[in-house]
Amino acid sequence: MTEPKPRAPRKKIFVKTYGCQMNVYDSARMVDVMAPEGYAEAATPEEADIVLLNTCHIREKAAEKVYSELGRLRALKNEKAGRGESLLIGVAGCVAQAEGEEMRRRAPMVDLIVGPQTYHRLPEYVARLANGGPAIVETEFPADDKFDSLPAPERRKTLARGATAFLTIQEGCDKFCTFCVVPYTRGSEFSRPLARIVDEAHALADAGVREITLLGQNVNAWHGEDAQGRPATLGRLIRALAEIDGLARLRYTTSHPRDMDDELISAHAEVPALMPYLHLPVQSGSDRILAAMNRRHDTETYLRIIERIRAARPDIALSSDFIVGFPGETEADFEATLALIRAVGFAQAYSFKYSPRPGTPAANEEDQLPDAVKDERLQALQALLGEQQLAFNASCAGRTMPVLFDRRGRGETQLVGRSPYLQSVHVEDAPPHLFGKLVDVEIEDGHRNSLRGRLRENEFVPA
Ligand code: SAH
Ligand code: SF4
Ligand code: F3S
Repeated sequence: MTEPKPRAPRKKIFVKTYGCQMNVYDSARMVDVMAPEGYAEAATPEEADIVLLNTCHIREKAAEKVYSELGRLRALKNEKAGRGESLLIGVAGCVAQAEGEEMRRRAPMVDLIVGPQTYHRLPEYVARLANGGPAIVETEFPADDKFDSLPAPERRKTLARGATAFLTIQEGCDKFCTFCVVPYTRGSEFSRPLARIVDEAHALADAGVREITLLGQNVNAWHGEDAQGRPATLGRLIRALAEIDGLARLRYTTSHPRDMDDELISAHAEVPALMPYLHLPVQSGSDRILAAMNRRHDTETYLRIIERIRAARPDIALSSDFIVGFPGETEADFEATLALIRAVGFAQAYSFKYSPRPGTPAANEEDQLPDAVKDERLQALQALLGEQQLAFNASCAGRTMPVLFDRRGRGETQLVGRSPYLQSVHVEDAPPHLFGKLVDVEIEDGHRNSLRGRLRENEFVPA
């Protein structure tokens, strides 16, 4: 009788994520595709056999961070080599896609460079490298559907890591805003089929997920067909997902104003699981700048959408993205952005200094603004947005809201969760069995970045 073969020691993969939530989703899928190859997830790069950086190219700062991390990894690779161990270094995501061969020249110790549309082929690439093959640079947009090549939802190790989950339903962008790299790094717009999305949502709900955030660079441009073969848009998909047992909450991000159709707006009025929160980037309040950005909407259209959505769901919390210091932005253009912010009243927002990106049309404009002007405008914009955010959070004091506890807070007894409006809510003296549960919380006060609340008496009874 032959001796049973000793089991190969388990290998480990570490994935570090930069950028948007779609990268968070992709990083989990990278771990999933390597699991059948015998790779477990590592807690630190030091204990890993493969380190992947899943990168973001949206602004210069984001892209540069990758190179400083690669410097640290080079040292780790040398250290491991000194001990006779190996480390495979890979770069995935949008910097990999945008820079490809150029990255190989700048960081020659990188073994693998793989764009966002080909990471499902990781096992094949890793096998080639393990057999002594040369470094791999793969930045094609292959014809095969990446999502179809991923392990089935129920076989994914990373499927549910808590009560909330992301689910990518759409990728890429055909809009070509003049400042933005996404159409180049993620390719053209693609929608996953409705049935696949529903299957994945079922698997998530079965694994204990209560809240799903649907993701896409242009999530509300999602389109597909319903079970009867009729054309469906995001509003229809949301109605289908709301029927799934166990799913209490649905969100979606990021939307483009051009794709806010009636069915989606009416879903906000009619689907209780759809949370009263909308992230709708406007970028600028100046029509001249919006045209130069190729946003294909003006401020009037944006304000009309806000009116319609508030008519459907009066308590909706609004969020947006802003860019200050776009080429040619005058003081008057900037004032128009402040005026739009005052007219709408945002519950929260993200704002950025314009960052010229290689290969995008706006980067070639002559009238780039000095950094000092961008800084000054960003500060003024953030002061106004900060006031609005504080006002919104403070207005929640005294209300009772359902909170989904998804994080442990400071100390033994604090739990942190999300309100329907996506605010972080901190609760002291919360029994641990409430983790992962939706619980009514009395809001005591609202700060700029969070709310503080307490449980009602009956919530102390153990489940
Ligand atoms: N698809 C989304 C946004 C994707 S990028 C949309 O259309 O709104 C996220 C945000 O990054 C953008 O909304 C924009 O505000 C910001 N951004 C993109 N390119 C940028 C650049 N070159 N400089 C500064 N901010 C940028
Ligand atoms: Fe970028 Fe514009 Fe597409 Fe958004 S809509 S991803 S900002 S090109
Ligand atoms: Fe960044 Fe790519 Fe997302 S550039 S924002 S990681 S789509």
